[in-house]
Amino acid sequence: MKTLIKNGTVLTAEGEFRGDILLNGESIAAVGSGIPAEADEIIDAEGKYVMPGGVDQHVHFSFTYKGSKVRGFETSNAAAVGGTTTVLEFVNQVRGKGLIESIEDYRKTDADGISMVDYGFHVVMTDPRDEVIDEIPQLAKAGYPTMKLFMPYKGMFFHADDDAILKALYKGREAGVTVMVHAENADMIDVMTKKLIAEGKTAPYYHAVSRPPVVEAEATRRAIYMAQMADAPLYVVHVTCKEALEEIKKAYQNGQPIYGETCAHYLVLDEQDLAKPGFEGAKYVCSPALRTQEHRDALWEAIERKWINAVSSDHCGFDYEKQKHMGYGEGNSFADIPNGAPSLQNRLNILWTYGVETGRLSKSRFVDLMATQPAKINGLKKKGRLAPGCDGDVVIFDPAYRGTMSVKNNLEGVDYCPFEGFEQKGRPETVFLRGQKIVENGSYIGSKGQGKFVAGEPFGAAYGDSAK
Ligand code: URP
Ligand code: ZN
Ligand code: ZN
Repeated sequence: MKTLIKNGTVLTAEGEFRGDILLNGESIAAVGSGIPAEADEIIDAEGKYVMPGGVDQHVHFSFTYKGSKVRGFETSNAAAVGGTTTVLEFVNQVRGKGLIESIEDYRKTDADGISMVDYGFHVVMTDPRDEVIDEIPQLAKAGYPTMKLFMPYKGMFFHADDDAILKALYKGREAGVTVMVHAENADMIDVMTKKLIAEGKTAPYYHAVSRPPVVEAEATRRAIYMAQMADAPLYVVHVTCKEALEEIKKAYQNGQPIYGETCAHYLVLDEQDLAKPGFEGAKYVCSPALRTQEHRDALWEAIERKWINAVSSDHCGFDYEKQKHMGYGEGNSFADIPNGAPSLQNRLNILWTYGVETGRLSKSRFVDLMATQPAKINGLKKKGRLAPGCDGDVVIFDPAYRGTMSVKNNLEGVDYCPFEGFEQKGRPETVFLRGQKIVENGSYIGSKGQGKFVAGEPFGAAYGDSAK
């Protein structure tokens, strides 16, 4: 099957030009202008942008909080209609199992034959026994060259102490496995949480009070020092505040290979959303917590200046009624509310509407942040770019579309949308996954199981741009 997309404005991380793209089978066959019109389907993209399919390097289809689990890969068509054609899922190591065994068991039952976009995995090390540490180099050979450690969540099985982080950094460095950290100080949160609950401050808003920016800045700095000692790259996920950004910037300037991402919701939502009437604030409980305008301004500046390398979703599909309400009522508190927010579908829409359309973000940097850099960082050589030989993952984006973000037009399978009522300018109109059309006129038309596993190559982070 050959598809020719003609007369669009081709957008890449380097710039834009008016041109055509030819898809042949699963790949991009040609990018240029005046490509001869010999194809099974010819699409006129006049007035539209043609860009690489998005790569969302931070999604949760298996995260479980106090026994409650998010929606899984059966909702990955939400990624497709949002213009994302590859997702990277965090899989917890199962106690008693190895790292690769944990990923592959999960993959067989929960992703293969189900996912509607391409997918890869980061493993979350939860059981850092010596033989598990020794297994780390094998991750790179198996196509899983990234692993995550959770610095907060004290008392939960996936919390990692400094001992585990340092050992992972040393071992990862040997084989090209990049260590990622969720950087928040577990003890600071724990002490503050207990104090607030003892004072009767149990409402969702106190989630933010229990984990202020200093909690994130301290852990970010500590992780950076550990990476410095191990002489290893470090990837800091979901950076939210100016203090943590300062730590990352300083490390870059010292020549350390430090990479950071932020997420769509930290760019547009506010700490005050946690104070919405009734229990509605629970919809906005995610970690780190939402911040204020001064932090959002710092994040927008950081993404344009390349102090931050990617914008992910940190998608976490918990229902409001059934799951967020675990923190409601007598004897419960904000600490019982499952952490995380659904945002898989609106990642590109938020970045375009509130970044490109407001002039805060150039169009080429938009492509870089949502596709090109996350592909590089994770060693996905055929993703995130429009070049011959790359996978035919392409979005035709209509900048003239006007709409409203709402749970009513959302495929995430959750009963709320954190961006409810937000204005939307532009949308992914047509989406191709490896040459096959999976979204047409904004609607999903693909099929379950169409997504394939995609292996990452070692030390993808080393190919990414560092801050200038
Ligand atoms: O609140 C969040 N971010 N939930 C998902 C798990 C994590 O911490 O990344
Ligand atoms: Zn996290
Ligand atoms: Zn996360």
